[in-house]
Amino acid sequence: MKFRVGLIGCGNIFSVHAESLVNTPGVELASVCDINLSRASKAAKKYKCHFYTDYNRMFKEEKLDSVHILTPHYLHPPMTIRALKNKINVLTEKPISIDPKDAEKMIKAAKDNKVRLGVIFQNRYNPGSQLVKKNLLNGKLGKVKAVKLFVTYHKPDSYYKTSNWKGRLDKEGGGVLIDQAIHFIDVLRWLIDDKVDYVEANTSRRMHKLIEVEDLAEGVIKFKKGAYICFYLMNFYSFDADPEIEIDCENGRAKIIKDSARISFYNGKELKAGPKPREYIDYGENRKDYWGVCHWIQIKEFYKALRENREPEVNGEEALKTQRIVWNIYKAARERRRVRS
Ligand SMILES: NC(=O)c1ccc[n+]([C@@H]2O[C@H](COP(=O)([O-])OP(=O)(O)OC[C@H]3O[C@@H](n4cnc5c(N)ncnc54)[C@H](O)[C@@H]3O)[C@@H](O)[C@H]2O)c1
Repeated sequence: MKFRVGLIGCGNIFSVHAESLVNTPGVELASVCDINLSRASKAAKKYKCHFYTDYNRMFKEEKLDSVHILTPHYLHPPMTIRALKNKINVLTEKPISIDPKDAEKMIKAAKDNKVRLGVIFQNRYNPGSQLVKKNLLNGKLGKVKAVKLFVTYHKPDSYYKTSNWKGRLDKEGGGVLIDQAIHFIDVLRWLIDDKVDYVEANTSRRMHKLIEVEDLAEGVIKFKKGAYICFYLMNFYSFDADPEIEIDCENGRAKIIKDSARISFYNGKELKAGPKPREYIDYGENRKDYWGVCHWIQIKEFYKALRENREPEVNGEEALKTQRIVWNIYKAARERRRVRS
């Protein structure tokens, strides 16, 4: 049986999902939806599928098994909940929601309707992240002591001027933290695999003039067993520099650079991992280098989970754990105090 899939939102990230689906056996891209008619019809023509401008109509007419939600952040909860109530499995782009209560409603709707909810955090599937995870799980790296996370991206005014939702608090839910750096917070939380004790943070709008959200966030995330992440995140640098992620462990240090990683053990041994071009697909137009190569891997894992009738690895609960760190960073900055989990 082939899963019939619909995609909602034919913007920047659309072709990454569409190409992933086309390259996944047992899956059929049945329909696309966008309120922008020309985007929807162009996408449908390219992928030889049906198109809609109203997602409720698509749910009614298409008999979909699953839908991917690729729309502005504030639309993830209503679209997800409507799909789940129609017994359609959902894979939504990050972040799960911009409000904690909505994320809980989404998770409940999946349970109540006996369908699955997955959330895209593709960077966990990078060969570099996987190498570090393996060496933490097998004990070779020992415990994580501390992490340095520096993200210095470039979002020009045009990035915000050409969007009707980016930079708006009610629609994006925040800035560099919830939109761009959330990927690294997720990978690091998954690697450290411990409960958060507290966060302390500052956020500000340092350079951008056109937006309501932060363009800088810095602080500390402290975990219960002692590890901590010190982070500095901003998106007004002069170019998209590779994020610097250094994980200092008992037996060595790991550096994650884009999709790759290098581990230097204190006994002199070194391990490296990076993408092998033949193992990945071409995501087509509009793709940004720093989105990485692993959407396809996570999307295949989601459909494997559906076929095996189990939860996807990154389900709603898993995404919510990362999301709570993000919200607590905003709360700590707003209330100028340490926020305990
Ligand atoms: N995982 C990643 O690396 C990654 C990268 C880029 C974007 N994203 C995420 O993907 C999502 C979309 O981002 P984007 O940059 O593609 O946004 P975008 O603005 O380029 O595209 C969003 C699309 O949704 C459509 N849309 C808006 N309201 C709609 C509605 N009611 N019904 C149907 N369509 C509607 C818009 O017309 C637009 O075409 C966001 O959650 C973003 O954070 C993730």
